[in-house]
Formats: sequence, C-alpha cells, structure tokens
Amino acid sequence: MNNMAIQDILMFDETLFKNISAFNPEYMPENYNFRDNQMEAMAYALRPALKGGMPSNAVILGPCATGKTTAVKKVFDLIENTSDKIKCCYINCQLNTTRFGIFSQIHEKLFGHKPPETGVPFATIYQKVMKNLTDNDTSLIVAFDDANFIFQNKNANKVFYDILRAYEEFPTVHTGIFVILSELEFRFALDKNVKTVFIPQDITFEPYSHSQILSILSDRVKMGFYPNVISDDLVRQISDYTFETGDLREGIDILRVCGNIAESEASKKITQKHLDKALSKHVSYNLLETLKSLNDKEFALLKLIVKEDESINKDEILTVTKVSEKFKEQTKSSYASFNRILEKLEFLRLVDTKLTGKGIRGNSRQIFLRFDPDDLNCTDINFS
Ligand SMILES: Nc1ncnc2c1ncn2[C@@H]1O[C@H](COP(=O)(O)OP(=O)(O)O)[C@@H](O)[C@H]1O
Ligand SMILES: [Mg+2]
Repeated sequence: MNNMAIQDILMFDETLFKNISAFNPEYMPENYNFRDNQMEAMAYALRPALKGGMPSNAVILGPCATGKTTAVKKVFDLIENTSDKIKCCYINCQLNTTRFGIFSQIHEKLFGHKPPETGVPFATIYQKVMKNLTDNDTSLIVAFDDANFIFQNKNANKVFYDILRAYEEFPTVHTGIFVILSELEFRFALDKNVKTVFIPQDITFEPYSHSQILSILSDRVKMGFYPNVISDDLVRQISDYTFETGDLREGIDILRVCGNIAESEASKKITQKHLDKALSKHVSYNLLETLKSLNDKEFALLKLIVKEDESINKDEILTVTKVSEKFKEQTKSSYASFNRILEKLEFLRLVDTKLTGKGIRGNSRQIFLRFDPDDLNCTDINFS
C-alpha cells in the first residue's frame, strides 16, 4: 500500500458512527433503564450519611454485564452532585489490590492527587485521610468493584477493617463500603473481626431478559450510529446472540465490530454479510479481558499448558506434575510459586484440575484447559 492510500484511509471522513465511544466498555449511557430498584436501594443505603449518620453497607451481586458498575457510578455521581457531605470512591479491584494502592485512590479522591509512591508509610496516609474526613465532617463510601480480586490475595480483610473500623480511632468519621461481586462464593471469606462490623444488605442484579437486551442494544444503536445504518432485523439477531451468551458487553462490542467491518468495505450500511463476519471472528469478551489481566509468569504458565496440551496424544492425560516440572525448568520458580500461579489460573477459570485416581496413592492430578486456544487466532493474544 502506498502512502497516498494510507492517507486516504485516515482522511476518509464518511463514517457510520455518529458517536463511536457509545460502544466503549466504559461509556455511561444517559438512558439507563431497568435498574431503578437497585439504584434506589443504593440511595437508601447512603442516605443516612447525608444527615451525619452511618451509611449501610451493601453487597451488590449479579452476573457479568448486568449493569452493576454503571449503576454504582451513576449513583455516586448523583450523590456527589447533591451533597458535599459524602465522598464516594470507586475502586477497580482488578487494578488496585494492595492496601496502599486502595488508599492512594482514596487519597486522590480527597486531595486531588495521589500520595508519593515511596517513602510515606501506610499509617501516615491512613491518618491523613481520616483526619481530612473528620475536619470536613464528611462521610466516606468506598465501592470495591470486582472485589473477588482482593479476596483472592487476602487483602480484603485488612482493607475492610481499615475502613469500617475507622470510627474506633476517629469517632466522628462515618464510613461504608459497597462490595461488588459477580461470583457469589466469595462473600463468606471474611474474618470474624470484619464480619462483626460488616453486615451488608444485598442488592441483586438479575440477568436481563431477552426484550430488555433488545431494548438496550436498540438504544445503543441510536446513540452510536447514524439513522438507518443497521436494520431492526440485524439488531434482533445480535440481541438473540447476546441473550444466548448472557453477556451484554458482547452485543455492544459486536455492534462496534460490524460498524468497523462495514466501514472498511466503504459500505454506508451494515449488511448480513458484515454481521456474519463479525460473529465469526468474535471472541468472548470475558476471556480476552481475563487473558489480558495476567502477569508475565501467569501467562507463561498458561502458554506452557496450551503447548503441552497440544502435544499429548488423545489417550494421554496432562498431569500437574509434568507441567510443574517443565515450568520449574523454564522459569526456575519454586514449587510453591508454581502452585500459586496454577491456583490463580484455576480461580480465573482458564484451567481446571481433577484427581485422576491414578499415580502414586491415586493422587495424580490432571489439568484441563477451559477454553479453545484456536478461538484466539485472530486476536493479539499469541500462545505460540
Ligand atoms: N440498563 C442498561 N442500559 C444501558 N446499558 C447498559 C445497561 N446495563 C448495562 N449496560 C451496558 O452493559 C455494559 C456492562 O455493564 P456494567 O455496568 O459494566 O456491568 P457489570 O458491572 O455488572 O459487569 C456496559 O457497557 C453498560 O453500559
Ligand atoms: Mg463491573
């Protein structure tokens, strides 16, 4: 391709997208239906703090892509626009897992900037945060989104304790937490001393119905595309597909991909052909996100498992022992560290292990992959 052709692509200003950001994962839809009950429940939980009382804690539960994150952010915005008596701090636990990381977010919320990364002990930052709340007579609400990530590295107990028992040292400070979870099993992983102060109410996000999905996707089409770019029939097909996968994010992403494909073919409309192409190369959103969140060692182990899994014969099984030996050889990691990484991959549901009843004392464990690596061929994730 010559430079002229590339310039043509960049300068080509006909587009199907009225607002391409409407298809971004973090887009805040103005029109946000079907979650009034849940948002009201959150408002009731926070209301006492507006009047100088203790807010209620909540566990916000529901499968992926049921609107939990969006609902919490909307309520937080509304509260902060209504009153300066409550500071609402949203923490993405996938990105912030340490006590220091979480408190630097809170620090940023209160002071407009993060504390220095080094040289300041945690206790100093903690005191500074709590003193600021005391002096300004403000309450603090912290939402822990995707909180399973802090349960996993066992920081949850400490951090929840730091926040919920602040009143012991700072008697006028009122604090509350929202714990947002997509997986129900984590809720009982709290220590006794946290449980006594953390008596949350449940706010449940049920999966969307078929017609709700259609309505949400149709809305998104209106926000994101120019009129008549995509037919009702195609939108219906996408919402059928989305209902089957159970993940609204996939539907929104497929709309975007369809638009890109149509545009790359200089078409003014999205056709069935474009949709078929989009569906054929679509990889589960969840899987991609999970894979991208792995650190180097975790990815290296997964890669090794994929390779070993490809190289064994049909009647063979892939054992934990075999993988652990290869991994140790490759990375010089200890057995304990191998185990920790494997546990994480299991936790993320990328692999599964099962006792085979064979081997020494019947203790041999088999590893299975829980996704098909071939599905990732057309993504930027590479196992070879
Ligand atoms: N009721 C709704 N109306 C419009 N868009 C929605 C609605 N619920 C979810 N979405 C969209 O679906 C995607 C997933 O929502 P999100 O709040 O991230 O879900 P969760 O946090 O439960 O995984 C986001 O792009 C969001 O904008
Ligand atoms: Mg979320």
